[in-house]
Amino acid sequence: PMSDSDTERPAVGIGRERQFEVYVGGARGAYPTVPVSFDRLEQRARKAMTPEGYAYVAGGAGTEETIRENRAAFERWRIVPRMLRDVSVRDTTAEVLGTRFSSPFALCPIGVLEMAHRDADVAVARAAAAEGIPFIFSNQASRPMEETARAMGRAPRWFQLYWSTSNELVASLVSRAEACGCSAIVLTLDTTMLGWRIRDLDLAYLPFLRGKGIAQYTSDPVFLDALQETLRTAAPPGGRVTLAALGTLWELAGSYPGSRLTNLRSGLARAAVRRFVETYSRPSLSWDDLAFLRERTRLPILLKGILHPADATAAIEHGMDGIVVSNHGGRQVDGAVGTMDALPGIVEAVAGRVPVLIDSGVRSGADIFRALALGASAVGLGRPYVWGLAAGGEDGVREVIRNLRADFDLTMGLAGCASVREIGRDSVQPAG
Ligand code: FNR
Repeated sequence: PMSDSDTERPAVGIGRERQFEVYVGGARGAYPTVPVSFDRLEQRARKAMTPEGYAYVAGGAGTEETIRENRAAFERWRIVPRMLRDVSVRDTTAEVLGTRFSSPFALCPIGVLEMAHRDADVAVARAAAAEGIPFIFSNQASRPMEETARAMGRAPRWFQLYWSTSNELVASLVSRAEACGCSAIVLTLDTTMLGWRIRDLDLAYLPFLRGKGIAQYTSDPVFLDALQETLRTAAPPGGRVTLAALGTLWELAGSYPGSRLTNLRSGLARAAVRRFVETYSRPSLSWDDLAFLRERTRLPILLKGILHPADATAAIEHGMDGIVVSNHGGRQVDGAVGTMDALPGIVEAVAGRVPVLIDSGVRSGADIFRALALGASAVGLGRPYVWGLAAGGEDGVREVIRNLRADFDLTMGLAGCASVREIGRDSVQPAG
């Protein structure tokens, strides 16, 4: 008979642990808190959200061809599993620019999370911290970064920046991010203007104009100073007074810190939105502007929204520390290249000098595996965690993270890789 010492103790790993947790739960009559399938999860989330909130998250630019293309580009690659490679003990961790990832994905910066759940960024922060998955705070967050950071202990976080028309505001946001323990700045380049988003246009709905998603601004000392100026020069409210306009004002007053009535009387909330609209975007941004940011922080800076190899090379020449290959989840340029089609050329141009991350369309462990095989250091997860948030709050986000971690762990092991370092170009081949 085999003694304990002859039999190897089976290594479990996060994938099998999660599977058994679900199956054993089922044997007792318990089902996962939120659906494991992202499609069913999205349906559940949709029921929990307003039509406007759902459209804003789900939608993309134009005919939404790029949303579909992102998926198609992942599906054009096939994993080629290898056998007999002892994958009993697996290491899914990764390190990017000094930040530890328990599994090689981060939560993408997503604005206006209050449309999914009232705990918004704070719920996501708690879930990410509990699972050791970095959270990239959005510039358009629903909660000030200080509050979100407090919910995370020492867990890893980055800050995503939009370059507004005020360099002073840019500098202020960056220094707040440093004080909040963010260990990198992700500068998003692809949204100097909003893409042509048909679902939102048909609903005539933009959350920012309702005072949603501007918490990083209304908590910023530089923005607040400028706001006083706006208040002094504010024109009296123009246009016809309609019931809808009054409703919007009421909504605005409630979304700004402080009491609703005081905000209504002072016109502060209305002025904040006006000021935000005046400052948030800067279509004139160009390569030379990067020096300003480079001088203001010692944190690594990643450029998000890169799709052309020459732009990746230019980023390195301008002292940038990383690339995020992204088309903003198909929300900006309809017809834009799928990110997995853009990745190989960018990885080649970068030639290992800086880490390359990728997002837009990541929906499974297989997607993470394929991106790593083509040379990405990690990936970003977008809409799926927002669906988790809408369907189940903090627990819902946690489940989404745990499921994706488990899926990736099992995919990696079953493909014959015991660690992310073993995933290479020969782990995949083009379909067909
Ligand atoms: C985003 N994205 C985004 N990006 C960014 O840099 N700052 C932001 O504030 C936002 N806000 C935002 C809101 C919503 C509702 C969505 C869906 C997306 C883009 C995001 O970081 C990421 O690039 C995509 O979401 C990735 O695509 P998938 O995974 O959603 O397909």
